[in-house]
Amino acid sequence: MKKCLVAVVAALCAGGASAQEGTLNVICSVQAEWCNMIQTVYARTTGVKVNMSLKGSGEALAQLIAEKANPKTDIWFGGTGDPHLQAAEQDLSLEYKSPSLPQLHGWAQQQAAQSKYKTVGIYSGPLGFGYNPELLAKKKLAVPKTWADLLKPDYKNEIQVANPASSGTAYTMVATLVQLMGEDKAFDYMKGLHKNIQTYTRSGTGPIKAVARGETSLSISFVHDGPGEKMQGFPVETITPTEGTGAEIGSMSIIKGARNLEAAKKFYEWALSPAAQEMGAAAKQFQLPSNKSAKVDPRVPDFKKIKFIDYDYAKYGASAERRRLIAKWEKEVNSLPR
Ligand code: F6P
Repeated sequence: MKKCLVAVVAALCAGGASAQEGTLNVICSVQAEWCNMIQTVYARTTGVKVNMSLKGSGEALAQLIAEKANPKTDIWFGGTGDPHLQAAEQDLSLEYKSPSLPQLHGWAQQQAAQSKYKTVGIYSGPLGFGYNPELLAKKKLAVPKTWADLLKPDYKNEIQVANPASSGTAYTMVATLVQLMGEDKAFDYMKGLHKNIQTYTRSGTGPIKAVARGETSLSISFVHDGPGEKMQGFPVETITPTEGTGAEIGSMSIIKGARNLEAAKKFYEWALSPAAQEMGAAAKQFQLPSNKSAKVDPRVPDFKKIKFIDYDYAKYGASAERRRLIAKWEKEVNSLPR
């Protein structure tokens, strides 16, 4: 990790970053290693002090709503795209049309256009399952290959997923199932799944970490969160369901009323550059970068091999729809006994 950090800092310095002062307040919704690397590298190469607060996607949105009258945040970096779209809709984020947009993949530009340029895609990643092969073998359980498999009674108390109110990962699961099965069948499915759930965690990455550490056999997770755990020596693999799955468009937004607006715009441009986006893999995070010129690490999931649904980001990123689905999940699923 240290070696990577030194290499990244050197590359960025060689890129001609000038010494400047200032402060930037960032909510960071990717994993701590990546947030910390950004904080260190950006501060060292620009002289800007980065105050970093780590929050899951749903929690980040809740904080931005709470501080709307008096924003304390300049930039929201990362987290699933749906709550970024809601922030845009609720006028919490600022319209900014980056000159770097043409360098980004179509899905990242689409995320920007559909929010009227109040957010932008910075990475993407597919939803799937994490599993602990050693634990499954010990319990004589098969690797699940389909959403339907997860309902098998054999998996009772073996599955972790996050709570969709706090986690963008879990909300992506709810929205994916609704699009894949239709709403009634998806809620019946989630009621069945509930019987097999060991714990609903606060953060979306909690379940795959629990799988890696042998605390549970299975998780519903973004599959790009698997390789980083494996690199630490944990027994964890990932798979995507054969019926089809959804993907997130991890996003970034400038906050309306940002106190450090110029610094926020500079950071935004930097975060869209190939060198900054390659830092994800250097921090053992394997989402697909949105800049077409960023190097793609071989551990990034191969999108061509995955069956995707045609995810409607506009519909499921709308505030009213998210609120409705989460409230329904709380009432009809989470309140049931297990
Ligand atoms: O940082 C890992 C990650 O899976 C991101 O790809 C994603 O945007 C984020 O976590 C979602 O976190 P949460 O589910 O806690 O909102």
